[in-house]
Amino acid sequence: MANQAKQVVTILGIESSCDDTSAAVIRDGMILSNVVAGQKVHEAYGGVVPELASRAHQQNIIPVVDLAIKQAGIRKQEISAVAFTRGPGLLGSLLVGTSFAKGFALASGIPLIEVNHLAGHVLALFIKEPGKFYHPPGFPFLCLLVSGGNSQIIHVKDYLEMEVLGQTIDDAAGEAFDKCAKVMGLPYPGGPHIDRLAKNGNPRRFEFSKPRVPGLDYSFSGLKTNFLYFLRDSLKENQGFIEENMEDLCASLQQTITDILIGKLRRAARQTGIKEIAVAGGVSANSGLQKALFSRAGKERWNLYIPKFEFTTDNAAMIAITGYYKFLKKEFTGQDIIPFSHTEI
Ligand code: KG4
Repeated sequence: MANQAKQVVTILGIESSCDDTSAAVIRDGMILSNVVAGQKVHEAYGGVVPELASRAHQQNIIPVVDLAIKQAGIRKQEISAVAFTRGPGLLGSLLVGTSFAKGFALASGIPLIEVNHLAGHVLALFIKEPGKFYHPPGFPFLCLLVSGGNSQIIHVKDYLEMEVLGQTIDDAAGEAFDKCAKVMGLPYPGGPHIDRLAKNGNPRRFEFSKPRVPGLDYSFSGLKTNFLYFLRDSLKENQGFIEENMEDLCASLQQTITDILIGKLRRAARQTGIKEIAVAGGVSANSGLQKALFSRAGKERWNLYIPKFEFTTDNAAMIAITGYYKFLKKEFTGQDIIPFSHTEI
């Protein structure tokens, strides 16, 4: 019998959906590099300015890809396919990554793979790291995807087979963190600042409203409005209310968001009978949410999976790993592909 050597699959991943330009190289599921260039230009505006984001992506994309290939220690000719984020995200930003990926694939004569950013967040749980213990969730599992733009409970049946069981009908959890942080005068993005300040605060000091949304869907816009009106009324009586109560405000807000997230996740786990539970997306880095998840996991006998921090926020390694699984199924796309600002999993 002929000795057939197994094909080595090396994927270049490109992520440009919001305000991070990122490129990564993954070989047979193992990460070789993951370069992320953030964009400081938005800080002065308290949020991402789409036009500035796409311009910064244009400046960053070539050096970022170049560095990712160098850090991976490979030659361009070794890349089997290029995977890019097609959406959801900011259209101008997505266009930069999409156009670059198309050009790279065409010039190199390699396949092009489109990746759903949300599926990428989920499959970040499957990134292998050299010399590190690899313990991904088993199928099927539930993934609580909580980021700046999304809050979803996803039933993950296989690498490329996912069903959204519930999602936000208005703001995302990350948006609730960021918008409430903004009204307290904290810098953007506010989530990590609230997390830091909440550590010394009393999470039961203030009570904020929790939505009554049927099924497994979420809603965070009512909480945001309630928080805003509460501050407005409190400031009328005491101008120094926010500064004097900052830590308790952060802790109570974080507790409310955590309770809302875990309440529906628990319901989804009970409805499906699934005990393999994962989290993904930027908000999964929140220490209060993680603590509450571990406590709930103990009570419900869940096996809990939390990705490494650098793979929770936007990064191209998650796009490359998704590209890897699509490559194995030969799910390639043509040069006529266009990005989408809104897509479902
Ligand atoms: O996944 P991600 O990087 O971007 C999107 O795809 O949206 O998530 C960014 C979001 C922001 O809203 C940010 O405030 C939030 O994740 N975030 C946090 C923490 N770290 C990042 N929220 C709460 N606590 C944190 N430690």
